[in-house]
Amino acid sequence: KRAYNKGIIHSNTKISHNIFELKLEIDLWNRFGEDLGIPGQFYMLRGWEAKDPFLPRPISIANIEDNIITFLYEVRGKGTHIISKLVKGDTLELLGPLGNGFDLKLKGKVGIVSGGIGIAPLIYLSKKLDNNVDFYCGFRDEVYYTDIIEKRVDRLFISTEDGSQGHKGFVTELFDPHRYDLIFTCGPLPMIKNVIKICRDIVPVYCSMESRMACGIGACLGCTIKTTKGMERVCKDGPVFSSREVIF
Ligand code: FES
Repeated sequence: KRAYNKGIIHSNTKISHNIFELKLEIDLWNRFGEDLGIPGQFYMLRGWEAKDPFLPRPISIANIEDNIITFLYEVRGKGTHIISKLVKGDTLELLGPLGNGFDLKLKGKVGIVSGGIGIAPLIYLSKKLDNNVDFYCGFRDEVYYTDIIEKRVDRLFISTEDGSQGHKGFVTELFDPHRYDLIFTCGPLPMIKNVIKICRDIVPVYCSMESRMACGIGACLGCTIKTTKGMERVCKDGPVFSSREVIF
């Protein structure tokens, strides 16, 4: 049975409007060299330091370095608002790594397409892939983490909806599926649907899906989506799915 473990906040920094980078130190429970997670996997985070305990929130792994796990999160509601107020030395409880991540063994040239905060698991993916990679990232306005990604990939393409940096418009307008053997994507549902549409019959797509989650471990069925295999749980059967499985 999986149990929540404690993490100590190393830093919790605002990096854009409503977007925070959280670094959690987790040394005690990693003493047996337990695997802390692969790109696409996530942790359920909940806070008890704050006056008001909140329900756990699923947050993707953006990096793992030694005993520090980095998460990016968007402040969307009460839970993430409470996390955003925590400071160095505060503790959070975390459960994970959970879910199935991206397949790192697939061969060929990779195109990564991210939208907004969907960039989080793809940042870690860009670190772990040995393939040649082009990274397309779309933002509404402010750009973040592109300096780190740029050093890891062959080519980086940026789009912003307001045109403040890179291409003005959507990231899918920049991207040519014919250049790639594989596509990995994460972002808002309309963007994922569009990536799949552009790539249909050209190149396989693997997408990390978002869903509201309560338990995070496959027990409550609160996160199911329609797939060719029937209803599947994003938290346990995903969050990474092949585009051939997902039914929109
Ligand atoms: Fe409970 Fe997925 S969140 S089954």
